[in-house]
Amino acid sequence: MAQEWLERWREGRIGFHRRETHPALVRYWPLLGARPGTKVLVPLCGKSLDMRWLARHDHPVLGIELAGAAIEQFVSEGEGEVSRYHQEPFAIYRQGNVELWCGDFFHFHIDQAAEIGAFYDRAALIALPPATRQRYAFHLAQLIPPGSPGLLISLRRAPGDSGGPPYHVEADEVRELFEPNFQVTHLEDGEPEPGSGFRESVWAMVRRGPKV
Ligand SMILES: C[S@@+](CC[C@H](N)C(=O)[O-])C[C@H]1O[C@@H](n2cnc3c(N)ncnc32)[C@H](O)[C@@H]1O
Repeated sequence: MAQEWLERWREGRIGFHRRETHPALVRYWPLLGARPGTKVLVPLCGKSLDMRWLARHDHPVLGIELAGAAIEQFVSEGEGEVSRYHQEPFAIYRQGNVELWCGDFFHFHIDQAAEIGAFYDRAALIALPPATRQRYAFHLAQLIPPGSPGLLISLRRAPGDSGGPPYHVEADEVRELFEPNFQVTHLEDGEPEPGSGFRESVWAMVRRGPKV
């Protein structure tokens, strides 16, 4: 799986990348109540411009991404000095208020996440095969302190379609995965995209008490 992602980045097959800030982030983030200064975890971040939007809105960002190519592109397409350092097993790039950790999200540990106070998942859960999603939801719960909010943008798909990534994750599955540790609120379903049958679905979450 990791190999496939690295190949996609190498070959430029990154149809998931958006050239503009995601409208659901702009619409819903201000409603979550994340205080200015709160550091936002962005798992499986690619080179998403949404990280710049968050940084511009007073949120230090910590993105985690397997593909070094994605991170190199993000910083070269951005502005400002880039500093690089290591915290095993991650190579870390910092540009302004954005730090990007190059490595596997599942290797990122709670002791490295001390200051995180919110999360943003756009196309992270849906990048993972079904068997890995439970692990993802629990791992995220371990990194997010109780009371902290998050926004999740997932994809639904016309019945009968299969394959991926991206995968489709239906509403029942989102609830099943996250409700043990998060208060989960469905915010909206987008319009079906012409041709693909995909439609985005947007969720607000708040980390509940300890559990995990
Ligand atoms: C569908 S893309 C979404 C990227 C980004 N969130 C966006 O909205 O453009 C999923 C990304 O997750 C990365 N990825 C996949 N598995 C990963 C893992 N275990 N740890 C870190 N990154 C991973 C891939 O390289 C890819 O860039």
